[in-house]
Amino acid sequence: MASVPSLASTVQQRLADALSAALPEAGSADPLLRRSDRADFQANGILALAKKLKSNPRELAAKVVDSIPANDVLKEIEVSGPGFLNITITDKSIIETLAARAADDRLGVPYKDNPGTTVIDYAQPNVAKEMHVGHLRNSVIGDAVVQILEFSGETVVRRHHIGDWGTQFGMLIQYLIEHPHELDHKGGSEVSGEEAMSSLNRVYKASRVLFDSDEEFKTRARRRVVDLQAGDPETVALWQRFVDESKIYFYSVFDKLDVEIHDEDIVGESGYNHMLVETCRLLEESGVAVRSNGALCVFFDDVKGPDGNPSPLIVQKSDGGFGYAATDLSAIRDRVQNLKADTLLYVVDIRQSLHFKMVFETARRAGWLTEDVKAVQLGFGTVLGKDGKPFKTRAGETVRLVDLLDEAVERATAVVRSKAEKVGLTEQEITENGVQVGIGAVKYADLSTSVSRDYKFDLDQMVSLNGDTSVYLQYAYARIQSILRKAGDAKPAAHPELELAPAERALGLHLDQFAETVDEVATSYEPHKLAGYLYQLASHLTTFYDQCHVLSDDNSPEVVENRLFLCDLTGRTLHRGMALLGIRTPERL
Ligand code: ARG
Repeated sequence: MASVPSLASTVQQRLADALSAALPEAGSADPLLRRSDRADFQANGILALAKKLKSNPRELAAKVVDSIPANDVLKEIEVSGPGFLNITITDKSIIETLAARAADDRLGVPYKDNPGTTVIDYAQPNVAKEMHVGHLRNSVIGDAVVQILEFSGETVVRRHHIGDWGTQFGMLIQYLIEHPHELDHKGGSEVSGEEAMSSLNRVYKASRVLFDSDEEFKTRARRRVVDLQAGDPETVALWQRFVDESKIYFYSVFDKLDVEIHDEDIVGESGYNHMLVETCRLLEESGVAVRSNGALCVFFDDVKGPDGNPSPLIVQKSDGGFGYAATDLSAIRDRVQNLKADTLLYVVDIRQSLHFKMVFETARRAGWLTEDVKAVQLGFGTVLGKDGKPFKTRAGETVRLVDLLDEAVERATAVVRSKAEKVGLTEQEITENGVQVGIGAVKYADLSTSVSRDYKFDLDQMVSLNGDTSVYLQYAYARIQSILRKAGDAKPAAHPELELAPAERALGLHLDQFAETVDEVATSYEPHKLAGYLYQLASHLTTFYDQCHVLSDDNSPEVVENRLFLCDLTGRTLHRGMALLGIRTPERL
């Protein structure tokens, strides 16, 4: 959908027109426009063009400059270096473009040309198990990508591929049959997530002890798995209790994390159970998979184990049990054939890359993933402790996600409190803001690192008021809101007739890039580029404040209005951009 063109695209268009007017023999040449430090933009396209036309680039550049009539967008063009064009645009064009952007609720962000359906697999914890720091990343990155894609017009189907199936359920269910009241709750009907998890933990530990020490229990537990797979009603009902109890817990953690999850989108491993036999049959019939020592395997030329022997994807084990791969292959069939996905996204730990590489390749061979369907794993890196090793507690255990979030909120609340008096925050606002700042800090630290990289979990750095943190961005937003409140009767209004100060121009030119940044991120699935954009926006705002007084008696009413306009648009851009990352922006901070 056509929306307000950005300054960059307007300039690009003007230059392209000038190029073809001055050099008809060149055909349609790309001016290769970039933002620049020396002027507003730099065009590098003349160099390639000169090569093509076998002429001197500086002369060619001069010819192009001469052919550009003075106009309302291009203020100054000069030839520099071997034949670059340095371009300065008019103040008027900046404010006019931003005014058009501001009139649009989407701030100029276009809808994708050919939106399709993306099925995204993210936020996939495991039943009866505590959520840990790894689940932070698959939830936070997935949620941001969902928001960004939906905003771009894509139809997004969310799938939470929770671990709710497997042999450990035989042990859990058997234990519950023998200790029927273990999952009962004493207190009223409202069970908290913590309570749910603590009873699940208790059952898990106790059944594990029994399983490891009592051979007869082990046999009964193994038989129970067979009953579960056969769909025995009593067994399935007990399995459902574990799932339900776990969901109470998951929802409480997602709630804390401020990530919205819907029941109908939770389709765990068990949801594909009815397809597994057929998936294997189809693979075997088509010859994509072969039996090897009883197991159903898919081989790849380029995948070998440490011993140099081929290391296959095992779809069915020799004892008849189905593995992780059978489920993922069945899920692909469902997502492509029933959900009509054009794109499959998997927000999963990068350490599972080989699994997905083999699964995607198998699905291609089987014809389930056709050429027009894209499958991408957004493989994320590991969260590290301050020592640079995978994040663990002092006792060497995995860190509970809940503990981490609680600590972040506690630290953030202290930061908010330290500034609260100046702003006049109530105790309730301090608490609410502490949550938004703390959770925002954790999400931002995660999202501002590129997905595949590891990062150090460092709360001191995350809640710091200076630097590339969400708190810095949230303060920028709150500061704008405070100015807008103080402005009283003066309202934001664009005044293209005014001359702009350098800091206003820099802020304006950066605001202009929001739409293309979001557009790019919606294609590349790189939320860190949006985070980086927003950080720069807040930095431009800081410089603007330092250099340009907004509500000053020395300003004409037009200057006040125009500066309020820039503030307001910056605020809306921060708010929208942060929301796309799943981060809140408190009004007063
Ligand atoms: N449950 C897994 C975990 O906790 C992630 C599942 C990833 N999704 C998938 N389709 N295999 O790491």
